[in-house]
Amino acid sequence: MTPDEFRKHAHELVEWMASYMENVEKFPVKSLAAPGKIFNQLPDQPPSEPQSFSLFMKDMEEIIMPGITHWQHPGFFAYFPSNTSPPSILAEMITATLGAQCMNWETSPAAAELEEKMMVWLRGMIGLPDYFEGVIQDSASAATLAAIITAREKVSGYLINEEGFGSSGRLRVYCSEQTHSSVEKDVKITGIGKKNLVKIPVKDDFSMDVHKLEEAILSDKKKNFIPCCVVATIGTTGTTAIDPLKTIGEVCHKHSVWLHVDAAMAGTALILPEFQWMLDGKEYIDSFLFNPHKWMFTNFDCTAFFIRDAEALIKTFEILPEYLKTRTRGRVNDYRDWGIPLGRRFRALKLWSVIRSFGTDELQKKIRSHIAFASKLKEMILEEPEFEVLAPVVINLVCFRYRPSGASEEELNVLNETLNHTLNDSGRLYLSHTIVSGKYSLRMVTGQTNVTLEHVEKAWDYIKATARSLRN
Ligand SMILES: Cc1ncc(COP(=O)(O)O)c(C=O)c1O
Repeated sequence: MTPDEFRKHAHELVEWMASYMENVEKFPVKSLAAPGKIFNQLPDQPPSEPQSFSLFMKDMEEIIMPGITHWQHPGFFAYFPSNTSPPSILAEMITATLGAQCMNWETSPAAAELEEKMMVWLRGMIGLPDYFEGVIQDSASAATLAAIITAREKVSGYLINEEGFGSSGRLRVYCSEQTHSSVEKDVKITGIGKKNLVKIPVKDDFSMDVHKLEEAILSDKKKNFIPCCVVATIGTTGTTAIDPLKTIGEVCHKHSVWLHVDAAMAGTALILPEFQWMLDGKEYIDSFLFNPHKWMFTNFDCTAFFIRDAEALIKTFEILPEYLKTRTRGRVNDYRDWGIPLGRRFRALKLWSVIRSFGTDELQKKIRSHIAFASKLKEMILEEPEFEVLAPVVINLVCFRYRPSGASEEELNVLNETLNHTLNDSGRLYLSHTIVSGKYSLRMVTGQTNVTLEHVEKAWDYIKATARSLRN
């Protein structure tokens, strides 16, 4: 493709992108494609002759678009959002154009220094103490992995990296029963082993029961296990429960255990002064993550990872083959030493663009509005005796179910599962589910970039009507 052809197609593509944004509501939210439908429409062999970009776009429209679930649709209420926004997309276009590998400071000084500055901005915006240093990781899963491996190395005197697990005792990691599955995956990858992940029971509000945590640590110590790390969550995936950092931190401090905090989605609410209570006990935190790629209007992937002792992180991950030696080493941040991959995308650019384009006031306003939508939804649900809210509404998520009188618990579970599938198959909205105390619960997250109160109200009317139609 020549530069002139590129220019022509790029202009057309920008039209396509803007029109997609304007018309996203016209698509079914959840793709209605049957398994295999996309695969079977694609040729078995790649073309040997060059093909035009126009043909590529034709297939993109006809084959690919029907298989896309529209996460930017204001009817997207499932999982946690994976928001984007125009300033984020524009910056991603630049990142793709530059194609810079940002592994070392020298491989793009601006990328390293902008990343350093963005982490300073974010640290201030969410109210973490100044001694934290930050780095952008791809996913929450990878950032938690980096945290647990660092905790593992610190507790073993950096011996496991050197010698493997051989002589060291059995390490233990603790999290609540409601913690995201990425922690279990990470514990497997670290070599600590799934059996050494201790899942602590939760209280009525689904937050970690700290007495049970301390009991577990004490009991493990008696059995000569080595408590290594506690993972606390701000905003669990099932119900957005908030683990109490202060009391967890006190236990960690007493027993010299690393405290990692996963605030994947809910961390964005920390930009609001009225949600700073979630960080009460922050003085005990060793590492912390949140995902601007979930709720802060910044394209996937962008995980802000903060660490109190950056030296421990670097000592854990650094490796210095001849071809990576640079003259600036030690004077600058070489972020390849701050996590798992060597190669790194220029992710700071989209954060810079988003934060400048919104400004912190507008970011706060938008996040506040999403939280208000969830409160309003909760109120509307409480007005209907045939519906039930199943968990505290803390931020932007409402867990609820349809509960017509006369149905058994088992029937209610089947009925709500059917309701979920019927709603999602309609293409009008997309919800996901969880199990709350044995009850099948619909999860509705009001954090999509484009969602308004009107979308939430319309969705609620549709949910009520669909639920009732299932009983008739
Ligand atoms: C609390 C929590 N932690 C971790 C993750 C994993 O996020 P990622 O896809 O960035 O690895 C999620 C995903 O929803 C989550 O809700």
